[in-house]
Amino acid sequence: RATKPDPADLLTWYDRHRRDLPWRAKPGEPVDPYRVWLSEIMLQQTTVAAVQPFYRRFLERFPTVSALAEAPVEAVMQAWAGLGYYSRARNLHACAKAIVEKHGGHFPATEAELLTLKGIGAYTAAAVAAIAFDQPAAAVDGNVERVLSRLFMIEEPLPKAKPLIRELTQDLVPVERPGDFAQALMDLGATICTPKRPACALCPWMKPCRARAEGLQETFPRKIRK
Ligand code: ADE
Repeated sequence: RATKPDPADLLTWYDRHRRDLPWRAKPGEPVDPYRVWLSEIMLQQTTVAAVQPFYRRFLERFPTVSALAEAPVEAVMQAWAGLGYYSRARNLHACAKAIVEKHGGHFPATEAELLTLKGIGAYTAAAVAAIAFDQPAAAVDGNVERVLSRLFMIEEPLPKAKPLIRELTQDLVPVERPGDFAQALMDLGATICTPKRPACALCPWMKPCRARAEGLQETFPRKIRK
């Protein structure tokens, strides 16, 4: 019988292999919720590689949430140019104004409050709560869905399996370092538990992975055939 995946094993792997990304605070450095939020909005429909130069430039132009809120929307649209999905930029500006006008310039720290803000859905609320505020929130994106589908050999196809995957992820979130845990899961999905030819031999969760034990890792997640 497969054992339960241990979050500590994933965190140990993350400490050794974490990707150095511009929105990640270095270990021991304080986390800026504005930077976490900005990166998560940019990463919603754009890859990590494509986001990086835009993220750096945007942050130079608008270093704080107040700077962003005070800027004319046209300047924000201009800085966003090239990233696509421009409703994200409009919502970003509206959200920055709401943070300044209704929250005293500080991001709220809970998933529920974050969900009330423009452009912040279930995934982003959980990601910001976990990464910026170390709340035990489950940030489940496509990469995380793949990891969990394989770990637990979830036969139910996507998208029907989403609620189950959310629940299983939530059960794994450790009370210590939930922000690192969220980003470790993202890194595992992006670099080890890849859609094709996953690098199982390098995976900190190889032993508890049920799909791997059956040699079926590449056949998960199940999808509805079109
Ligand atoms: N994709 C979405 N958010 C991410 C993050 N914080 N780190 C890496 N990839 C991500």
